[in-house]
Amino acid sequence: MDYVRVEEEGGIAVLTVDRQDKLNALNPQVVEEIGQALLDLGNKEVRAIIVTGAGERAFVAGADIAAMSEMDPIEAKHFAETSNAAMALLDRSPIPTIAAVNGFALGGGCEIALACDIRVASENAVFGFPEVSLGIIPGMGGTQRLPRLIGPGLAKELILTGRRISAAGAKKIGLVNRVVPQGEALDAARSIASEIAGNGPLAVRHAKAAANKAQEVDLISGLDYESDQFALLFSTRDAKEGMKAFVEKREASFEGR
Ligand code: COA
Repeated sequence: MDYVRVEEEGGIAVLTVDRQDKLNALNPQVVEEIGQALLDLGNKEVRAIIVTGAGERAFVAGADIAAMSEMDPIEAKHFAETSNAAMALLDRSPIPTIAAVNGFALGGGCEIALACDIRVASENAVFGFPEVSLGIIPGMGGTQRLPRLIGPGLAKELILTGRRISAAGAKKIGLVNRVVPQGEALDAARSIASEIAGNGPLAVRHAKAAANKAQEVDLISGLDYESDQFALLFSTRDAKEGMKAFVEKREASFEGR
């Protein structure tokens, strides 16, 4: 891979988009590499995936505008579909995903962050959807995931104005979970990933699936889904171990079974 690298340590994988001369902008090759890296990680025993950008300035400064300026509608549709497939690997992955936003997260960068389960930003991060200023619209899920996360009114204001907002502004509207000093986003994401990794892996997987369901179905169907997942976990050794460990006043030892 030319633009994406993955490092694993202690069951936590860090996927870094590294195309610093273009502020990590996403051309079709970068998107394909992100998708491939996430597919590869799906076959491994990792407990959390962190996505970040290389360098000090950018998380991802959006889709590659120069590359898009050459696309016809068929190529644009293909680009949107491969991008959406990669985003679905973050969103739908049974493994929790965390965006460590270390700088510009514009357009496609913001959309990668939105596809993750949790977003941590350094205080120099900048968010926004500048697509309409280019005569296009978000094509990697922004118009769908942003309203679901922060509500339709604020989402439409951001998408229709193309305005950039600071990390503090993003925190205020619930676009990011927490803001940390510059240079500390990755460490903060690692710390959240470690907290998650200490829990029962099957429980975490089913909890994510149930929370995802809340975005997709009505309340009654969602509650049904939750109670099914709840009951299913009672067939696992980890559930027995987790509850027994509490009763016996000791640390649980989870096996993922
Ligand atoms: N697509 C393609 N190239 C991009 C890019 C993008 N989305 N974002 C940045 N780059 C490139 C610049 O063209 C420049 O390349 P060059 O050195 O070969 O000219 C390099 O990255 C550095 O960017 P530059 O604009 O010089 O940095 P800056 O600090 O002055 O501005 C930004 C930073 C992020 C404000 C500015 O690059 C920008 O507005 N980028 C586009 C953001 C955007 O609209 N994204 C959504 C696309 S749908």
